[in-house]
Amino acid sequence: MRILVTGGAGYIGSHTVRHLLANGHEVTVFDNLEYGHRQAVPAEALVVGNLRDIDHLDQLLVVNRIEAVIHFAALASVGESVTNPAKYYTNNLIYSLQLLDRCRRNGIQKFVFSSSCATYGEPTQVPIPEDAPQNPVNPYGHTKLAFERALADYAAAHPFGFCTLRYFNAAGAAADGSIGEDHTPETHLVPLAFRAAQGKIPHVTVFGTDYPTPDGTCVRDYVHVDDLATAHALALDKIAPGSKLAYNVGLGRGYSVREVIAAVEAVTGLKVPVKEGPRRAGDPPVLVASADKIRHELGWSAKYDSLRAILDTAWRWHQSHPNGFGE
Ligand code: UFG
Repeated sequence: MRILVTGGAGYIGSHTVRHLLANGHEVTVFDNLEYGHRQAVPAEALVVGNLRDIDHLDQLLVVNRIEAVIHFAALASVGESVTNPAKYYTNNLIYSLQLLDRCRRNGIQKFVFSSSCATYGEPTQVPIPEDAPQNPVNPYGHTKLAFERALADYAAAHPFGFCTLRYFNAAGAAADGSIGEDHTPETHLVPLAFRAAQGKIPHVTVFGTDYPTPDGTCVRDYVHVDDLATAHALALDKIAPGSKLAYNVGLGRGYSVREVIAAVEAVTGLKVPVKEGPRRAGDPPVLVASADKIRHELGWSAKYDSLRAILDTAWRWHQSHPNGFGE
């Protein structure tokens, strides 16, 4: 298939691009390199551009005879979305709607969307099934949910199918250590714990120790980035005109912030200095996926089925790239 991947030089995007190329697809990566990395994708696949430049995207859809779009390009810091919602609504919603409409006009029939467990808000049921109520508790989650709704309306009105993948917490790196997680600024727990273990930052702050969880810290479902990548390829195969698909992508097992830090210490053999701090705005206490639907309907399974296996790959990346893609 000829596939346009927006945000394809980012963390999950670049691992997905690699998987698609290995499976014989023709991939055009569209990324403004603000958060993505040039080195994370093959040079010949990369087109540098901004999502807001809809005419540039339109031209690529036509000239490259695109058949499917995988839309990663988005801002993804929950905390920042709380303090700067306009930035999130503009990038994640307005520009995404523009892209969706150009896809419709150009007859693109398959669309895969990067959504998030953040669309569930504070779940009433754990593990969370796909048909659970979606009541986000932060602007990031609101923007993702609003776009999910737009996709459903488009698929009802036009000859168009989509698959929404609701990622839980992406972690890990390519098995060969060549690409991995490198955000600036880094806000995610796993890479920060590795950096603290390596002495590159003085400590990790635990955001909240008074949650209603066994050890008082937030519980998340960590899934390997390469297992997220395979979910996209399976989704593309499954989409048909009129498809309105939504799948959680997680392992169905939760780990607390303290458990993640202990696991990073076990993997590295190094101490992770920790400070306890207040809760971070917009963080639900527990987010754990029910992954039954994607397993049954798409035949997806996780190659990395334990936190330890996931963190082993991340540690390889952090050791071989102490400055991320900067080195
Ligand atoms: N945390 C800390 N200290 C830190 C960073 C994070 O205690 O320095 C905690 C958070 O409070 C949270 C957990 O570690 O409980 C994981 O936090 P991350 O920032 O690593 O990940 P999030 O769960 O906030 O975010 C991830 C994705 C988002 C997605 C979100 C859904 O990165 O894109 O899950 O909730 F939207």
